[in-house]
Amino acid sequence: MLEVKDVVKAFDKSLVINGVSFSIAENEVVALLGPNGAGKTTMVNLISGHLQPTSGKILLNGEDITNASPYQRIKKGIARNFQITHLFEDLSVLDNVRTCVLSNRNQLGRFFKPASGYKEATEEARAILGIFNLEQFSDQPGSELSEGDKKVLDTAMTFALKPDFLLLDEPTSGVATADKFKVMDTIIDAIGKRGTATLIIEHDMDIVSDYCQRVLVLAEGTILARGTPQEVMDDPRAQETLFGVSE
Ligand SMILES: Nc1ncnc2c1ncn2[C@@H]1O[C@H](COP(=O)(O)OP(=O)(O)O)[C@@H](O)[C@H]1O
Ligand SMILES: [Mg+2]
Repeated sequence: MLEVKDVVKAFDKSLVINGVSFSIAENEVVALLGPNGAGKTTMVNLISGHLQPTSGKILLNGEDITNASPYQRIKKGIARNFQITHLFEDLSVLDNVRTCVLSNRNQLGRFFKPASGYKEATEEARAILGIFNLEQFSDQPGSELSEGDKKVLDTAMTFALKPDFLLLDEPTSGVATADKFKVMDTIIDAIGKRGTATLIIEHDMDIVSDYCQRVLVLAEGTILARGTPQEVMDDPRAQETLFGVSE
């Protein structure tokens, strides 16, 4: 599905990603963990096309997409959220998702008649709200949601793009600690229903260990440890890097 091959990213003279390689298979949910400043968001930007690597390659289903634009990558099936949510605060929850459904239909260049297309898009948006347990908020403006529900809505919007590969940059950041597991439960359930290959970025091992088949630990731009959550938790170098990391 996704292959990252020996990717290096330097900003001026500072090396932020220093030779990272990993791959993610279909149906796999993988966590990319690491302390603040490790290069996690940079890695997401490299995969989504918002940044170009200094060297190395990124492949999607065997196709080299290293030089593809973010827009081309969306068309090829890569969707992402941003670490800071960017909802349309004044639009209803339904409209937030419907906008993404409609934009996806246009991007794919499908022929659709505006009236029936709109009805279909509304049904699709309602179905997505159902998957993410947000139906009860359909008619409320985005601004009225709790931080946790805003993060869930943000993920629901990326889901509306029907990605083959989903990048979630800290989908629980800004959510109260007590609600983080609930938010992750909802997101992981929804991903599982579609079997979307996903890379979830986090800085907290506790949040991902229950949810991800594999973990990659990024520190100072290199992968320090990789394996199942248990293998990574037992790795002394990973423990040292991840222990006590907080924001
Ligand atoms: N556009 C940029 N220009 C220069 N330095 C950057 C840029 N983006 C990120 N960095 C630097 O790269 C490092 C990793 O940042 P980031 O990928 O945001 O880390 P993380 O998401 O793991 O907290 C930080 O030291 C940050 O200052
Ligand atoms: Mg980040």
